[in-house]
Amino acid sequence: MTENNVIVVRNLSKVYGGKIKAVNKISFFIKRGEIFGFLGPNGAGKTTTIKMLTTLIAPTSGDARILGYSIKGDSSMVRASIGVVPQEFTADEDLTGFDNALLIADLYGIPRAIAKKRISDLMELVELNGAMNRKVSTYSGGMRRRLELAIGLVNHPKILFLDEPTLGLDVQTRAAVWRYIQKLKKDYNMTLFMTTHYLEEADSLCDRIAIIDRGRIIRIGSPNKLKAGIGGDIVSLSVNNDHEDLTDMLRKINGVVEVKRVGKDYRIKVKLAETLAPKLITAISAKGYQVTKLSMTKPTLDEAYLEYTGRSLREEETSTGDVMSQRRTLRLSRS
Ligand SMILES: Nc1ncnc2c1ncn2[C@@H]1O[C@H](COP(=O)(O)OP(=O)(O)OP(=O)(O)O)[C@@H](O)[C@H]1O
Ligand SMILES: [Mg+2]
Repeated sequence: MTENNVIVVRNLSKVYGGKIKAVNKISFFIKRGEIFGFLGPNGAGKTTTIKMLTTLIAPTSGDARILGYSIKGDSSMVRASIGVVPQEFTADEDLTGFDNALLIADLYGIPRAIAKKRISDLMELVELNGAMNRKVSTYSGGMRRRLELAIGLVNHPKILFLDEPTLGLDVQTRAAVWRYIQKLKKDYNMTLFMTTHYLEEADSLCDRIAIIDRGRIIRIGSPNKLKAGIGGDIVSLSVNNDHEDLTDMLRKINGVVEVKRVGKDYRIKVKLAETLAPKLITAISAKGYQVTKLSMTKPTLDEAYLEYTGRSLREEETSTGDVMSQRRTLRLSRS
C-alpha cells in the first residue's frame, strides 16, 4: 500500500451459507483523512463489508489491509486501531451511557482514570453530558445513536466505521451527527468509512462515494464526478397510456440521449431539458396521447444512482432476504 491509503481492499467477497453472494469481489482504497461513503439499497452488502473490514466476520475470499494490517492475519492489530459504530444498537439498556462506554474502555485495557476523562470529553462532543448518568433504557433513538458514536471513539481510533449513522433520526439530530463527523475529520484528521441509504447525506458529507448494489461496486468517485458522469438533463414524464411502448419513437427525437420506461412513466435523458420538453410533448400528442405529468431535473446524486443501478433507492423490488433487513430498518427507525 502507499503511505496514504489507510484502507486497501482487494477482491473481497462474502458468501453466506454457500449461496448468498452478499459481497462479490469488491476492490477499493481509502485515503487518510477521507470520508468515504458506501451508498446502496437494503441488502446491497454494506453491513457485510463493514463487518469484514472490522474483523467481526471472516471473508470468504479476498483480503483487506487496514493501516497495513491484514483483516485475516492481523485482526487484533486491526481492532486496536479502529472504532465501530454498528447499525444495530449494542449498548446495555440497564447501564448508564457512561458505564456502557466505560465497559468498552475496559475491554480496550484503557486505564480507568484516562478512560473517565476521555468518556466525559466524548459525551460532550455528542452532547450527552447531561444524560450520561441515566440508564440507556430512558434514551431516545437519537440519544442512543449518539451514545454509540461516543462508544465507537473510546479507543481514539485512527479510522472510524459508521454503519448507517443517521438511520431513523430526525432532521435536527441527523444534522448534529453530520457535524460530529465533520469535526472528527477536521480536528483529528480521522478517516471515516460510512454506509448510508441517504443520497443527500452521501452528497454533503463524503469526499468519495462507492455506489454498491447486489454485492458489487458499480461506481466510485467524488459526488461531483458521479453527477457529471450522467452527462445530461433528465425529463420524467407520464403518459395516459401504458399499452403502447413509446420508447423507440422518443429515442428518435433529436437531442434525446436515452429513454427508460416503466409502464406509463418515462425517464428520458436529454441534452437540454428546456428545449427538449416541448418537442417530447408534441411528439406524444401526435401519437394521440397526453402527457399527464412532467418534471425536469439537472443531475443530482439521486439521478446518478438511478442511472448507474437502473433503479431507485426507494422503489426496491423486494426479495425475501431483503424483507428481513427492511423490517430491521423499520424497527430501527421507530426506536
Ligand atoms: N448472517 C447472514 N446470513 C445469511 N444472509 C445474510 C446474513 N447477513 C446478511 N445476509 C444477506 O446478505 C445480503 C447483504 O446484507 P447486508 O446486511 O450486508 O446489506 P446492507 O447493504 O447492509 O443492507 P441494509 O441497508 O438493509 O442494512 C442480503 O441479501 C442479506 O439478506
Ligand atoms: Mg446494513
